Formats: sequence, structure tokens, C-alpha cells
Amino acid sequence: MRGNSRTVESQQSGVHEKLEAIVEKYQRTENRRPIHGHTQQAFDEVEDWLSDWQGEVILDSCCGVGKSTAGLAQRYPEARVIGIDKSALRVNKHQHYETRQNNYQVVRADVVDFWRLMRASSNQSAWHIAAHYLLYPNPYPKPSQVQKRWHASQAMPDLMALSPRLEVRSNWLIYLEEFAVSAAKYAMQCDISEVNPEQPAFTPFEEKYQDSGQQCWRLVGVGES
Ligand SMILES: C[S@@+](CC[C@H](N)C(=O)[O-])C[C@H]1O[C@@H](n2cnc3c(N)ncnc32)[C@H](O)[C@@H]1O
Repeated sequence: MRGNSRTVESQQSGVHEKLEAIVEKYQRTENRRPIHGHTQQAFDEVEDWLSDWQGEVILDSCCGVGKSTAGLAQRYPEARVIGIDKSALRVNKHQHYETRQNNYQVVRADVVDFWRLMRASSNQSAWHIAAHYLLYPNPYPKPSQVQKRWHASQAMPDLMALSPRLEVRSNWLIYLEEFAVSAAKYAMQCDISEVNPEQPAFTPFEEKYQDSGQQCWRLVGVGES
């Protein structure tokens, strides 16, 4: 075994008992938190980059160092790919993973604000997101932290409105099972399967978990177009 990453430990043995009530609460409420200036600026720059773009856009939210963003840009050369992460430290490390592809950007921004700005944009044609990736989000495994998980957060209505195709990966199966329960309330059907460890790792976190002998999981959600 090359890695020593610890498996996710939680007092939860299944879907959080309050999950459905929390998801329904956020379906009824509006997020009025002010948008951070740095995310507004990053959003404006990306929207400008897409202003004359007619093709598909792929989103890689919480992309970390952007290895997966560069990988997606290589895999889909006919699309434009945007990687977003709030950590300047991680985004600044992207140069190690940079490729010669010029169809992608890795930007520092808070996805909570970015998703809201995308949804509210008057330029909806720029934000036709063909596929959205959310790879190894922080699990927040304590039951008391449930609302920090994306599917039980106030950001879920925006996340669900962005794309009819979503892929979420995690090394904690319960995270994805909960995601599927939550997404079903937005008419998104989800399928969960094992990530094949024989394939090259998609992201540094996937690599770390696989090197430690952990099973990684993949949820693919399909919603209404
Ligand atoms: C466990 S890491 C996974 C990174 C990468 N996707 C991977 O698999 O290697 C989770 C990432 O989510 C980012 N993140 C957490 N909350 C965020 C937010 N509100 N906006 C943008 N990025 C966020 C963190 O900065 C971190 O890079």
C-alpha cells in the first residue's frame, strides 16, 4: 500500500434522519447572502471568456489543483471547461498540471456564489452547462455537520438548476446515497457505481484514496434538460 489516507468514519450508518426535511426547507428559501467581490470578479471574467462561445461548457466545481479540469479539457477538446476552487493555494498549484489545451480555465472563487451568479445571469446561453463534475467534496461526516454537505446545503437549489448531467465522486458511500435522495427531490435520477481502480486516477484525492486501498464511488445524475 503506497498511501495512508484514513477512511471516513462517521456515527451515521445510513442517510441522515433529517436529510429530507433539510432539503425541503432549502427548496422553499432563498439565499440572500451578499456575493463576495472576488467571486463576482472571477465570474465576470469567465462570462466574458464565454461571451462569443456557442459550444458546450463543462464545469468542474471544487476542482482543487485542477488536474481533473485539465483532463476534461483534453477529453472534450470541442468544449470549454471551467474549474473552480476557493483555495488560492490549490489553484496556484495548477501550473504543475497545466496542459497545452487552451479550452479551459481554473479560477479561484467560492462555488456557492458562483453557482448563484450563473443561475441568475441574464446571459443564459453562455451558461448552458453540458456536464457538471463535483469530485471528492469534503464529506463532513459528523451528523451535526450534515448541512455542510452540498446536497443538504442552501446551495443545493442552485447546484440542481445548473446542468442536466452531474457526476459526484466520493470515498464515503453514504455521501452519495444522501446526494441521490436529495437530488430525487429535484427530479434528478442517480446511479451509483464503483470507480474502477485500474483506471488512472481522475484527481489527486482519488489517487490518494486508491493508494490507501480505499474504494471510491461515482454517482451519475441525470435530470430534466
Ligand atoms: C477534498 S478536496 C477535492 C479536490 C479535488 N476535486 C480532488 O478530488 O483532488 C475539496 C475541495 O473543495 C474546495 N471547496 C470547498 N468549499 C468550496 C467552496 N465553497 N467553493 C469552492 N471550492 C470549495 C476546497 O478548497 C478543496 O480544494
